[in-house]
Order: sequence, then C-alpha cells, then structure tokens
Amino acid sequence: MTVDLSTAFGRLRLKNPIGTASGTFGYGLEFAHYLDLAALGAISVKGLSFRPCHGNPPPRICETDAGMLNAIGLQNVGVDAFLAEKLPELARLGATVIANVWGDTEDDYVAVVERIGSDRRVAAIEVNVSCPNVVKGGMIFGNNPEALAALVKRIRAATGHPLVVKLSPNVTDIVACAHAAVDAGADALSLINTLVGLAIDLERREPKIGFTTGGLSGPAIRPVALRMVWEVRKAIPKIPIFGMGGIETVEHVVEFLIAGANAVQIGTANFRDPSLASRLVGELAAWCEDHGVARVSDLVDTLRTRPRPDHEFA
Ligand SMILES: Cc1cc2nc3c(=O)[nH]c(=O)nc-3n(C[C@H](O)[C@H](O)[C@H](O)COP(=O)(O)O)c2cc1C
Repeated sequence: MTVDLSTAFGRLRLKNPIGTASGTFGYGLEFAHYLDLAALGAISVKGLSFRPCHGNPPPRICETDAGMLNAIGLQNVGVDAFLAEKLPELARLGATVIANVWGDTEDDYVAVVERIGSDRRVAAIEVNVSCPNVVKGGMIFGNNPEALAALVKRIRAATGHPLVVKLSPNVTDIVACAHAAVDAGADALSLINTLVGLAIDLERREPKIGFTTGGLSGPAIRPVALRMVWEVRKAIPKIPIFGMGGIETVEHVVEFLIAGANAVQIGTANFRDPSLASRLVGELAAWCEDHGVARVSDLVDTLRTRPRPDHEFA
C-alpha cells in the first residue's frame, strides 16, 4: 500500500504533515547537514523582527525533568538579513518556508510582514503572539482576545500570504483566543507555544534562567498541547491546525492528528536528535501502512470520546 502523506492545509498543500517548530530549528540551514530540508512538510524559522535582536542575557536555557525552560528573548538576525542571507539558500534547497514573525507593537508586526511582501519563497506567515520571554509584545497580544483580534486584523490587511496565528497556552480560555484570531482573518492556527515556568538554583537561591521565568517545552507539555488542539478543533471544525508540544515519536505525531491537528511541528526534540523530523516522515508512512490507513488525512480529528457523566469530579 502506498500511503498518501500529502496534507491540505488551507491554501497550502504540504508534502507531508511533519514540520519543525520556530526557535528550535534555527533558520533551517543549520540543520541541512543532518537532513534533507525539502523532505519536510514545512520549516518554521526563528521568529523574525523588523530589526535584529540580541535576545536576553544568559543563562537562557536549562533542562527540566521532562523538557526544558528557555528565555532566549527572540534573538534573531532581523527580517532584512533573513531575506538577503537565509531565504535564497532555503529556496535553493527546496524547503517549504514558514516565516515566524513578532514585534513589540502592532506597527512592528506589520513592518515585518510588509517587508516580506509577496515574496513567493515564503509559503506562509506564522505570527507569534505568544512568546513568554520578552518584556513587551508577544504575549500581551496572546493573552487578550481583543488585542489579538486588532493585531491579526492589521496583519491580515498587510499580507496576502496564508496567515497562521500561533497561540499562547498561558490563558484560561484557548477557544476564545482561537475564535478571536480566526474571526480577525487568520487562515490557520499553531498550538501551542511554551508554558511559563520557573526553575531554581537552590545553593544560590536564584532562578536558573537569567530572565527569571522561562518557557517550558518538551514532553512535559504534550498532554496540555493535545487538550488545546482537541478543544480548538471541536470549536472550529474547519480551521487548519499545526499541533506541537513535546512530540518525540511517530506515536506522538499520530496522537496530535487524531486530536485534530492537520500537521505537526517538532520542537525541543530537535536539540537531542537533529534528524528526527525527517525520520518521522518515513515512520509515519510505515505506521499508516501497518494500521491500514491509506491517507494520513484520514487520521485527523478522529478521537472517539466517551459521553461524560452529568456530575463531574476532577
Ligand atoms: C529554545 C526555544 C526557542 C523558541 N523560539 C520560538 C520563536 O522564536 N517563535 C515561536 O513562535 N516559538 C518559539 N518557540 C516555541 C516552539 O516553537 C514550540 O511552540 C514549543 O517549544 C512547543 O513545542 P516542543 O515542546 O516540541 O518544543 C521556542 C521554543 C524553544 C524551546
């Protein structure tokens, strides 16, 4: 049986549903020695701002029991250097590139998106409204459906590219944020960014991270991410969703698809195994074949839930 891995993702058609998550895969080029970038469904590059950004002072990452905390602070080369120095090579290598963007203000976001313009080498724009590791911007929009809607409306008006909004899990109502983004013109959603956490150096009685708090990623957050993908899928049946959070194996990929993601992004796991994403493409085809699944899209949103009792106890 030949398994069809191709994935309809709104206006995009991805070769397969396996991508890499922003901030965990550099600009893609750093990983070109380890895997064929063209074999991946999509690569979401490190968050781009209008001007280059140096990020936060160190220490910026630490390992936790089942993942890591990071407060990189969105260090990046800036959109101009990305377009001039990184994108041509990514295009030459045949990568499907998603430009992840951020700003401190609405105007900053719009400026980055306008600079990308209608460049065909960029397949989609992913808007990070959910970074917990910067003082301004980022999460201010992700935490507040009204601010989020206003931002997405302005970005929507500034670009014809497919627009993916990456939501923050640091909210009580992820569905309200999803609705705000989609109603304001988002074509697709990414779920989830990191969860705010704290790790302590006991001897120094200091945070292990220079920024004090950091974003928790890796296997620890997978059940939260799955729950949020599932909730948003139920609330907005047709919206394309990139699911991410702690994916390390092909079984994890399948879990996200069943919960309602159309495609996934591999994040923290890239640090341990830089060629994992491309291996998962082959493993997903094998998994589907073993389970008699002819098209990977047949797995999407197939969770069979049991009726819940009237009186629920936590
Ligand atoms: C070191 C690091 C840097 C990140 N930088 C970004 C970023 O620039 N933009 C963004 O949208 N998400 C960023 N993220 C979030 C990831 O893309 C992803 O949403 C999150 O880590 C959950 O997936 P994972 O558990 O598989 O890592 C970053 C995550 C890590 C660990």
